[in-house]
Amino acid sequence: MTISPKNKHGDTRLTTSGRNPEANFGIVNPPVYHASTVTFPTVAALRDAEKHRFDRVYYGRYGTPTTFAFEEAVADLEGAAHCVAVPSGMAAIAVSLAATLHAGEHVLVSDSVYFPTISYCKGFLKKFGVEVSYFPPMASAAELKSLMRDNTKIVFTEAPGSITFEVQDIPMIADIAHAGGAKVVMDNTWSAGYHFKPFEHGVDISVQAATKYIVGHSDAMLGTLTVNDRSLYEHIKITQVGLGYSTSPDDCYLGLRGLRSLATRLPRHESTGLKLAEWLAACPEVETVLHPALPSCPGHDIFKRDFTGSSGLFGVVLKDGPTEQDLARMLDGMELFAMGYSWGGFESLIIPSDPRTMRTTYDWPYNQPVLRIHAGLEDPDDLLADLEAGLKRLST
Ligand SMILES: Cc1ncc(COP(=O)(O)O)c(C=O)c1O
Repeated sequence: MTISPKNKHGDTRLTTSGRNPEANFGIVNPPVYHASTVTFPTVAALRDAEKHRFDRVYYGRYGTPTTFAFEEAVADLEGAAHCVAVPSGMAAIAVSLAATLHAGEHVLVSDSVYFPTISYCKGFLKKFGVEVSYFPPMASAAELKSLMRDNTKIVFTEAPGSITFEVQDIPMIADIAHAGGAKVVMDNTWSAGYHFKPFEHGVDISVQAATKYIVGHSDAMLGTLTVNDRSLYEHIKITQVGLGYSTSPDDCYLGLRGLRSLATRLPRHESTGLKLAEWLAACPEVETVLHPALPSCPGHDIFKRDFTGSSGLFGVVLKDGPTEQDLARMLDGMELFAMGYSWGGFESLIIPSDPRTMRTTYDWPYNQPVLRIHAGLEDPDDLLADLEAGLKRLST
């Protein structure tokens, strides 16, 4: 069997990219290569390997054929020329910024991003002399332009924000960033690279916590960076190996296995998520539902314009600012929804999170936390029954 996937539809390529049965005894999945040392038979071969170290097997930290198979498949998913795998989503975020920023330069960060991204900017980047400031996720073009500085080199975005779910206007942000000489980094984890194609919308570096939907089974940590530009790719590679990030080939194997079923899992997360979100929106205990596919979500029109669908992660704001005890009454008794950080696996999750403590550039318009829900692959009616019982406990 010869696989030539380039002219096939995206869902077909998710099943074929990164595979090469002919080179592996006909075995369907690429094997897991474990390696630190790679040997070279001659001095000439050693020198040649060094010269081409970003494109071949060279030393364990640079990746093995298993890493490269995973990287090829993720690059194909996001429509990029290159991908670099790293050991977690947070590592992808850290590498994207460390690879592109120097002391004395400025990064403008959306105030809706994954909170550890903000902590990294406030802590590490400031410590190394990078200026950091933030912009409200729904900033107008004029407001965003006014926040750009002469030394702004990166605008960091996440759409939608994974706690408050504002859908940002990435093409508008990219136009303003590029006009000011800056590049755009986007955390594209929510869409899994499936529902939003970053390079068609002006993004320069797309990062993902592959830990979430790509791995899809809550059993591995993995991150990816994708780019089209060769020199950016080399900067990212130099930073990844220079910081000592070595990505486990076992985890790349799990990421690759997860990708094979992404096109069947995501629509189920989407339909269950929508069913739960629409049901919750009609409940008297609910103030609002923050789901990009519902008109109540800031940026819903942008979502309809730029995304081909949604994943299973959304937020709910309850009425009357429930106390910690009220929340405990509701959440401690959930049967199927577990409380835990992360998302994107087969299981449903629910977690209270408080944007009021996280934002600096705008006021969160509600006086209560968000309940963040991840719709898993269980029967949606069982999930509805679990939520209904939880809301009953809340109001007793
Ligand atoms: C939007 C987003 N980006 C990045 C990360 C970090 O990923 P990881 O946990 O793999 O480091 C997370 C983790 O929850 C996330 O939600």
